[in-house]
Amino acid sequence: MNEFFGNPNFSVSHQKVSASCPSNIALIKYWGKYENQIPANPSISYTLNNCKTNTEVEFLAGEKFGVQTFLAGKEELKFAEKIEKYFKSIVEYVPWILEGKYIIRTENTFPHSSGIASSASGFGAIAKTLMELDELFSGKIGTEAKVKKASFLSRLGSGSACRSLYNGLVVWGETHEVQNSSDLFAVQYPNSEVHTSFKNFNDWVLLIHEGEKTVSSTVGHGLMNTNPYAERRFLEAHENFALLKVILKNGDMEGFIKLVEHEALTLHAMMMMSDPAFILMKTGTLAVINKIWEFRKETKLPLFFTLDAGANVHLLFPSNQEQTSIREFIIKELLQHTQNNGVVKDVMHF
Ligand code: DP6
Repeated sequence: MNEFFGNPNFSVSHQKVSASCPSNIALIKYWGKYENQIPANPSISYTLNNCKTNTEVEFLAGEKFGVQTFLAGKEELKFAEKIEKYFKSIVEYVPWILEGKYIIRTENTFPHSSGIASSASGFGAIAKTLMELDELFSGKIGTEAKVKKASFLSRLGSGSACRSLYNGLVVWGETHEVQNSSDLFAVQYPNSEVHTSFKNFNDWVLLIHEGEKTVSSTVGHGLMNTNPYAERRFLEAHENFALLKVILKNGDMEGFIKLVEHEALTLHAMMMMSDPAFILMKTGTLAVINKIWEFRKETKLPLFFTLDAGANVHLLFPSNQEQTSIREFIIKELLQHTQNNGVVKDVMHF
């Protein structure tokens, strides 16, 4: 991985750079990791289109190392601390990184209190700005290498972030099902292996519970270390990759729905099997899931769900055909389970 070890002949100067990075939603989940942000199993996600973080970094070369961060104009001390720690942890890959002071201004296109994870888009955007600065200080590298290194660096900030550097379906974690897949960075799942039915999807996030989660993802990952079901789960993720590969190729929507919902429920089952146990789903989450199942039974329409590590429900349905009855059902039946009629509408198309 020579390309990641940086050019020792750098010369820093005052600079201002900016970058934007989308969030992503995993279909096969990353839950459990080893030292140095090595995932316990491979994961695959859709990169979103609308939920993004926009970040501007001002680098004051030669000043004492330190980070000041502003989120939507408001100074965030905790975030600054986190970024300082992160920058110190990646100095072996970005040798100039501690040679100045940073003022970081960042904002999300989705509501801050929504409970939508901003760490993926947030670290993705930061890593992109670092690569902009790296090019200025250490010299240009090719576009492909630049994105790959941004993915590598963002992984060290937050695992799922490394998938946000690519569009479409993105894989992180080594699996023999996907060529060139790696534990160190993400790769794009080959477009030619994806049936058109899976290339245009809606992801409407029902904001069941806004605000801070009771248990952070990082703590949740840690609890997999002592979870007696962990090894079976990691194996299952590999098995699900083999299944998904066939489904993606042949357009088997029913198989896709079954696998994606199973992955979401397994993630939350793992939380319940942790010691100490924790539950991030709320009453509204369960009500929505049951209503989706009833709706599907009655209508046979492809509306299904996935969950991240929180109470919100990601409603997935193809956007290549006008699914009026699905939209009506969501507004009439599901919206009532949100805290403030909150829904964030996103799409995936590639
Ligand atoms: C449930 O990437 O947020 O969303 O690496 O500790 O920052 P850290 O965790 P994070 O975990 C995401 C977990 C997940 C599943 C997924 O996105 O694959």
